[in-house]
Amino acid sequence: MNRDREKRESELIKLISAEKLPKHVAIIMDGNGRWARKQGLPRIAGHREGMNTLKEIITCANELGINVVTLYAFSTENWKRPSWEVEFLMRLPEEYLKTELQPLIEKNVVIRVMGDLEQLPAVTKRAIKNALQATKDNTGMILNFALNYGGRSEILNAVKKIAERVQEGALKPEEISEDLFTRYLYTGDLPDPDLLIRPSGELRISNFLLWQLAYTELWFTTTLWPDFKKEHFLKAILDYQERERRFGGINKI
Ligand code: FPP
Repeated sequence: MNRDREKRESELIKLISAEKLPKHVAIIMDGNGRWARKQGLPRIAGHREGMNTLKEIITCANELGINVVTLYAFSTENWKRPSWEVEFLMRLPEEYLKTELQPLIEKNVVIRVMGDLEQLPAVTKRAIKNALQATKDNTGMILNFALNYGGRSEILNAVKKIAERVQEGALKPEEISEDLFTRYLYTGDLPDPDLLIRPSGELRISNFLLWQLAYTELWFTTTLWPDFKKEHFLKAILDYQERERRFGGINKI
């Protein structure tokens, strides 16, 4: 590895305050296609390189002691891509888990997946099921993949489930609070993200965690996901630690 980069990383790590770590970091992994085009490579080469970034960032998050990392791996809108790209993306969880599941088990990581999993190909579902089962009793960092995930559809699902409960007479409309609603989301038992990272220069949240991001600190960079390294992640955490979070209140007058 590049010596200079290693040095910069260790300098950045020294500046991070362990007490002010974000508990939950959400990431929109974007820019794989553009990265590939810039290198004169096919788009899938960008996704493969993006997977290397993913490994580096997960290792770093775990070493820092972050509790939850949620990664946007495939959105409900990504089906609109050419079938060869969709097929490739659907193979990635299996490919990733083939080499990474064992080290993740050893690191006590809990793998979770959120989204409409029914529509996924059998091979993807099988790999996921195996990973969920193999890590379910772990107690360390939660690694949460959003796969065939859409924020609006997540909210609609929650609304439908709550409506059913009301119809059955198990719940009264006046009992529907923000806390109760939160529990009906995929992330029901997780804290809201403290920090959202989006690489590649796009300044939007693209149907990701619409309810959960209400008070999340947003961090954008023009770096494309395959070029996004530990160093960028550490900078995002440091910037986050500089921010004053008020949640709509006032901290000082
Ligand atoms: C967006 O870049 C990226 C994706 C839709 C896929 C992200 C997936 C990975 C990085 C690997 C996932 C791995 C596992 C294990 C699930 P883009 O293709 O939209 O880039 P572009 O905007 O430059 O075209």
